[in-house]
Amino acid sequence: MTASAIHSITAACALAARAAVTAGATTARAITARVVTTGAVAAAAAVVACCPPALAQGKLPAADPGKGQQIVGGVCSACHGGDGNSTVNQFPKIAGQPTEYIVKQLTDLAKPANDKSARVNAVMGAFAATLSADDRRNVAAYLSAQKPKPGVARVKETLDLGQRIFRAGIPERGVPACAGCHGPAGAGIPIQYPRLSGQWAEYTTSQLVAFRDGTRRNQLAMTQIGARLSDPEMKAVADYVAGLH
Ligand code: HEC
Ligand code: HEC
Repeated sequence: MTASAIHSITAACALAARAAVTAGATTARAITARVVTTGAVAAAAAVVACCPPALAQGKLPAADPGKGQQIVGGVCSACHGGDGNSTVNQFPKIAGQPTEYIVKQLTDLAKPANDKSARVNAVMGAFAATLSADDRRNVAAYLSAQKPKPGVARVKETLDLGQRIFRAGIPERGVPACAGCHGPAGAGIPIQYPRLSGQWAEYTTSQLVAFRDGTRRNQLAMTQIGARLSDPEMKAVADYVAGLH
């Protein structure tokens, strides 16, 4: 690949990343059209290939994973497991999520319920509020370095629908392909796109509902995507990504 080709892909990715954050209806449709016409996997691979170096510049200063491990072992492990691999389907697996994503969630969960960019959850909000800024960075450093345990898809009948939504979106309703931002295998793309693969389907569904209902209002593109998915579509894509690896 020539230097100018790389430059134009990087520029396109920077645009796509920005569009992802501010995506209006038109942008979401444009992303969909691009992913559908060029092939979901190829487009997603292009995003994976070019976004990390462009975004890595926003790196946080060094954190202390040892201190993070102490907090997780003492406070968080009851729900999330000692290594961030929760064994209960309503508590998310956090192992291997990007550091910056974890810090952002803990920050948004700690915001008061009337904050416009809060992620409102009574249980987790209370725990997040006990953490200092350094605690957040330390637990994030520890959890992001843990190996995520794979999950399984359980509902055979909806696998095709889930796969179609994940790879191609629902173009006629302006739902972009999940793979375009979360990666072709759902592994996430640091810094802001979380891993979906292997996650508990019940938790994934609950988040899509929370984005739609506005209790989780910390990301505009996901709010719009949640609003355009029906309950059966949410369940289908959540079950599909649970088994993806
Ligand atoms: C009593 C159970 C419980 C405990 C203890 C707990 N959490 Fe949570 N955690 C939850 C629940 C429930 C959610 C999902 C919240 C929602 O639906 O928005 C969550 C969500 C999260 C998320 C967001 C994950 C994602 O994929 O977006 C992070 C990060 C997190 N917890 C970290 C922690 C840390 C760090 C601690 C310890 C300081 C902790 N949790 C303690 C129940 C718990
Ligand atoms: C335009 C980019 C984009 C697209 C397309 C996209 N997502 Fe997301 N998604 C994000 C971002 C960014 C976040 C992190 C939100 C935050 O910072 O709180 C996210 C978060 C999520 C979460 C929460 C994960 C967790 O651990 O709590 C789920 C679930 C999710 N997306 C599912 C989907 C599904 C299903 C699709 C396809 C129908 C999809 N996303 C398409 C950008 C996108």
